[in-house]
Amino acid sequence: MAQQRIVLKDPDRFKDPANLSWERYVALQARERERYLAERAALPPEALTYATVSPRYLERAVDQFANNYYSELSATHYIATAAAHAPFDELKKCCLFQLADEQRHLEMDTEVWQRAGIPERDWLPAWEASGTTCRFFRHVLELDDTFEILVKANFVAEGAAGPGTFAVLADGAEARGDLFSALNHRARVRDETRHISFARVLVKALIEDDPANLDVIQRWQDESLELFREVARGGARQEWWEGFLASYYKIALPLGLRPTAL
Ligand SMILES: [Fe+2]
Ligand SMILES: [Fe+2]
Repeated sequence: MAQQRIVLKDPDRFKDPANLSWERYVALQARERERYLAERAALPPEALTYATVSPRYLERAVDQFANNYYSELSATHYIATAAAHAPFDELKKCCLFQLADEQRHLEMDTEVWQRAGIPERDWLPAWEASGTTCRFFRHVLELDDTFEILVKANFVAEGAAGPGTFAVLADGAEARGDLFSALNHRARVRDETRHISFARVLVKALIEDDPANLDVIQRWQDESLELFREVARGGARQEWWEGFLASYYKIALPLGLRPTAL
């Protein structure tokens, strides 16, 4: 498919809603890391060796671990591409701070695999199995346009996987004794919220800059949701999927986007 490119003629329309400077970002990251390490240290030691979950839980959790780990790994790559091709500095800055966030999330998810004792040779097959978000992320990794990457990955995927679904994942893990995954989901969502916010400001700016951009953004949304749909096929993960769409439409519909015909 021919790539459709859009431009922001007036880059002043985009301002980082978190108003971060390098200094403020580093301070925020340091506080966040301190909080994370304190919360992890407060977990019962058995939770960190996965002695608190059933063997059946671990068997079933492998595809969720793959969804977490590989989406964060993908994020470190696509957001670096978005930063490299960013058409103006304010946007590049947001991408670079996000790159550091995603690297931290990736490290948390690497530790889950290791502590749960899942051998590395099983990771990739779990990700490539059907019913994961693999197809979506592989698509994003092929893109090189900053706006398309940010609309698809930050606005649609993170907007959808935002507060709602991470809460479902955290509560679900906690209920099954996986306190470490629950902690990680709650830590990651604090950063993802910032990634969604700047993408939302960008989408709004693009539409206000040129209303014709809305059609392209609508197409990017539709392509993204179509790639996600297989995750919930056959009723599996129904609760996750409903939370996913509800979370996304809450930010998208007020900007003039329409629900995707799925
Ligand atoms: Fe992340
Ligand atoms: Fe993110």
